[in-house]
Amino acid sequence: MKINGIWHHSITVNSDESIRIIDQRQLPHQLVFVNLRTTEEIITAIHEMWLRGAPLIGAVAVWGLCFALQDNPDNNTTLETACQKLLATRPTAVNLAWALNRMKQKLLPLPISQRYQAALAEAKAICEEDIKINESIGKYGLKLIKEIYQQKQDTVNILTHCNAGWLATLDWGTALAPIYMAYDAGIPVHVWVDETRPRNQGAALTAWELAQHGVPFTLIVDNVGGHLMQHGMVDICLVGADRVTSQGDVCNKIGTYLKALAANDNNVPFYAAVPTPTIDWSIKDGITEIPIEQRNTEEVTHVFGLTDQGKLEKVCITVPQVQSANYGFDVTPAHLVTGLITEQGIFHKI
Ligand code: MRU
Repeated sequence: MKINGIWHHSITVNSDESIRIIDQRQLPHQLVFVNLRTTEEIITAIHEMWLRGAPLIGAVAVWGLCFALQDNPDNNTTLETACQKLLATRPTAVNLAWALNRMKQKLLPLPISQRYQAALAEAKAICEEDIKINESIGKYGLKLIKEIYQQKQDTVNILTHCNAGWLATLDWGTALAPIYMAYDAGIPVHVWVDETRPRNQGAALTAWELAQHGVPFTLIVDNVGGHLMQHGMVDICLVGADRVTSQGDVCNKIGTYLKALAANDNNVPFYAAVPTPTIDWSIKDGITEIPIEQRNTEEVTHVFGLTDQGKLEKVCITVPQVQSANYGFDVTPAHLVTGLITEQGIFHKI
């Protein structure tokens, strides 16, 4: 990914084997990099959403295990305790459990003296694989956009929700990967970017990423999608996923389900871009079986942004002591999903 014309990765491994990430809480107003060196720092960074996005959460969490083993490699409980703490940071995205389990399977059979080096190698492998997965998702998704363009011979309008771009992964992104590839291939694309309340990942992150790449987009508030679809202004919806069940239910950022309903009612294809580590084969019914994160309600009652005077401020937008609720994700049942774009190909609804 390019920021101000310079290539960056969402995670950089420093020469002392600490990692550097972008503090996404400051975007799009400030580009701030932070170094993470301890398991506790990783736990805070994931829980407080300095970084977010299902694949990135998993890929960063494994470094928390590396740091734990670096500090105290002599004991089996080090690994187990660090895993438990990391797993508790965010409940919905299954990539976290997937990545931690993969590390445990690799490390537990090894002699203690080899575990730290093996952990580093596995953490680096997970990061490198994520880039390849997203590139492959991009190539498959590109075919869908190309087909629409060949039929329409005019700009392809894509609606996306939240941020499933390179800020949410190691590189490329999932739902945004096909869009970047289409743009780079010269296909005229335009993206409707849902602001994605309460944390505004669309307005703050997707808008920033697309602007950095030069992809044309329009920011909209979350309730606009249905109207656009009724008026033929959306050719395809492309979203990411935090967990997909064995029957194809898609859990993603809150509000995704309403977009899928509107898409279904207006015959707009609705695709989720899904790396295979995001599939939870152990569960079937997403609505009853996926734990939905509920976050601090201050995210609902307050907004954070830049004043016209150039100051970053948090302001309250409602009455004092209001009762509010903050559900982070929802589940789109499989029958509303046209297809899943994975790194192994596109799987359509039967
Ligand atoms: O709460 P967030 O910002 O971690 O939620 C992120 C999303 O819902 C993304 O759409 C999803 O993780 C896919 S990212 C490739």
